[in-house]
Amino acid sequence: MASHGKRAIAAPAALAGLLLAACSAERVPRADRFDSTGELIAMSGAGAGATGACFTCHGLDGRGDGAGVPRLAGLPPGYLQSQLQAYADGRRRHPEMGWIASRLTPTQRLLVAQHYAAMPLGTLPSAGSPPAIYARGDPNRGIPSCVSCHGLDAEAVSPAVPPLAGQPAGYLAEQIDRWRTSQRRNDPDGVMLRISRALTEREIAALELYWARADRARRGSVEESRGARRSGPRSDASAPQRRAAAPGSSGPRP
Ligand code: HEC
Ligand code: HEC
Repeated sequence: MASHGKRAIAAPAALAGLLLAACSAERVPRADRFDSTGELIAMSGAGAGATGACFTCHGLDGRGDGAGVPRLAGLPPGYLQSQLQAYADGRRRHPEMGWIASRLTPTQRLLVAQHYAAMPLGTLPSAGSPPAIYARGDPNRGIPSCVSCHGLDAEAVSPAVPPLAGQPAGYLAEQIDRWRTSQRRNDPDGVMLRISRALTEREIAALELYWARADRARRGSVEESRGARRSGPRSDASAPQRRAAAPGSSGPRP
């Protein structure tokens, strides 16, 4: 993989400005500057080495693997950075991500977060109408609607709240479980801890069905665009191959 891929050229000016600011503030030695761009951290894994190279699990397009590995592309930069911090200090427990995040410096976590935040996600197909709990919550039990914070589409409604659209169903359901069992304890004011514990099994099942429907719609549109590419004048053999989302292949490699 050449270190100056397409993405380096397409990197927004904001990232360049940020890099300059970070370098001058920390007086990064000259030779380290290129190792410290967000893109190179994503491609090399920086201190975590090749097994920690983000793209191997999260994909060259930052869309995750459609199973247990989440989308990073286009998530709010502050959210991405705070998750990496939480993995590193153990408030969000996960063996691989904990190990990887703890081997990045705070500046590298910031830069790689900016890199993925700036990555375009593209449009997502509609998953149909969401279940009642998602759209309206339950005021009687003090559960606000999910849509009020997470929105319906892939854009963030607020910088601290990740959009859920474009995330694999298995990953999302797993997170609800993590809060319920206190393996994830980094949510501001314990908002997701409270909500996840207030949800009934039926409501969680309805949410999972909705998310699985979104997964299927996404897979359908990926197939469609592949078909379109194949019938195009120059089918691109060098296009990154997404790993198949086969059942049972959800976990990252050890
Ligand atoms: C071995 C595979 C693997 C590698 C390599 C990897 N990740 Fe992850 N990443 C995962 C998995 C699996 C999860 C979901 C973990 C969980 O359930 O908490 C995840 C979760 C995340 C999240 C949380 C996203 C969210 O929506 O809350 C962030 C941020 C993240 N990874 C960033 C990175 C960065 C940056 C790198 C490279 C420095 C990286 N990852 C490398 C597998 C990987
Ligand atoms: C008051 C705002 C608020 C409401 C309402 C809310 N959430 Fe959240 N949710 C958050 C925040 C903030 C986070 C990120 C927490 C963190 O930083 O770790 C989050 C994270 C999540 C995540 C993990 C996303 C990821 O990428 O890892 C899931 C899944 C989730 N919420 C599901 C729901 C569901 C389902 C509902 C409705 C029943 C809901 N949320 C309602 C604020 C909210």
